[in-house]
Amino acid sequence: RVAIARVLRAGKRATGQTVTVCGWVKTNRAQKERSFVELNDGSCLANLQIVVDSTCASRETAVTVAGAATGASMRVVGVLVDSPGSQETEVKASEVHLLGTVDASTYPLAKKGHSLEFLRSVAHLRARTNTLGAVMRVRNALAYATHAFFQQAGFLYVHTPIVTASDCEGAGEMFQVTTHKLRAGVAPAVYKPEEDFFGKEAFLTVSGQLNGEFYACGLGSIYTFGPTFRAEHGHTTRHLAEFWMIEPEIAFADLTDDMNLAEAYLKHCFAHVLASCAEDLAFLSDMYDKDKPGPKLAARLSQIVDEPFARVTYTEAIELLCKVEGKAWEFPPKWGEELQTEHERHLCEHTFCKPTIVYNYPKGCKAFYMRLNDDGKTVAAMDVLFPKVGEMVGGSQREERLDVLISRMTELGLEPEPYKAYLDTRRCGTQKHAGFGLGFERLVLFATAMDNIRDVIPFPRWHGSAMF
Ligand code: 4AD
Ligand code: MG
Repeated sequence: RVAIARVLRAGKRATGQTVTVCGWVKTNRAQKERSFVELNDGSCLANLQIVVDSTCASRETAVTVAGAATGASMRVVGVLVDSPGSQETEVKASEVHLLGTVDASTYPLAKKGHSLEFLRSVAHLRARTNTLGAVMRVRNALAYATHAFFQQAGFLYVHTPIVTASDCEGAGEMFQVTTHKLRAGVAPAVYKPEEDFFGKEAFLTVSGQLNGEFYACGLGSIYTFGPTFRAEHGHTTRHLAEFWMIEPEIAFADLTDDMNLAEAYLKHCFAHVLASCAEDLAFLSDMYDKDKPGPKLAARLSQIVDEPFARVTYTEAIELLCKVEGKAWEFPPKWGEELQTEHERHLCEHTFCKPTIVYNYPKGCKAFYMRLNDDGKTVAAMDVLFPKVGEMVGGSQREERLDVLISRMTELGLEPEPYKAYLDTRRCGTQKHAGFGLGFERLVLFATAMDNIRDVIPFPRWHGSAMF
């Protein structure tokens, strides 16, 4: 079997070759003497046209092809011939095998043009649509670009655990892990606490950072790329309960190194997608971007690759926001308070009109592990803000001084027990280090021009969502 993407890439160079292709029928147009089947196999957006005429063997073939409704799966053997249509090549079938039929009256995707919301309700079938196909190929390209970038830069890929006892962000958004005995037909019964599997409370990780730090403080430069979980109750277009995070951590590095790394990594990702997914980007832009103002998807990504990001301290950002005239803020900007989504978006969509790194936040807005600056009021934290998406990256230089770290934890009322190992690294050969976390789905969201984060992950989980 050869992938349709390969056949189409070869174009006229492959004319005359016999190929076997497998896929799902997009459309099937039957004429008196011939049938034209548009076949897609997910390897690319375009379909391959299969022409079936009387030279294609037997009566069974004609019956087979006529019975192949949208969604049916088939294997085709045939010769590549020059196509009079928009594509250079098509297949003149010599054999058609219908592998799986479809009842058009019940197939949810029989008709064209479904809303994205409807497609979420058939998440097990939506991979067959052009939109999800394009999004998933871009997602795949971004995952590849992530590994390529960090591997080329000499980072080690470290697999951090999913089950943990500590709350990295201290935001209390953790899912607790309990052990259940599953019996067929009986609702799961929770084990008694004394039978608790781990002997203590355990949770799904909200971030691999603390474990990542342990490995950076021994191996130098590492990154993680894994699932993370947050019990987010808000129904926003940018939050999921399960999402993937990329978290590099670099020993002997400070906040400037961290910001430089984040910017270089993001640029590498977009450059790779531009080079490898042109057809999918054009399709997504046409479908979801067409009527929106400003440069279109590929142009937006190119601009980001070519231009330096804006960088501004939190204090400067608040000053700039306070000077904005005629804006009715829901939360008026004020030093010491969190930047709200409306502030973040204003900075990158109106003040700077490009990705913007805000750094040196008030300590009250950020997590316990961020390094206290000499002013005693701010920490060496940074967020990378993107138009439409808001916060793409959150990172910081870590507090490497044991006494300062302990006093920050005490200030925030954190129990030292779950963080014993973390504090130990500050006792044993401590050194400055920094890192960040990038929400992978937010990266995919920006690179695909989609509006809702639920449409850029294969199986989205959110508060109250059904699961497959
Ligand atoms: O800013 P956050 O909470 O930072 C951390 O978790 C750090 N421990 C990372 C580190 O320094 N290693 O989350 C990092 C990023 C955010 O900037 C955002 O892109 C994404 O993770 N994110 C979410 N994405 C989807 N759904 C959610 N509920 C998200 N929460 C955070
Ligand atoms: Mg954050």
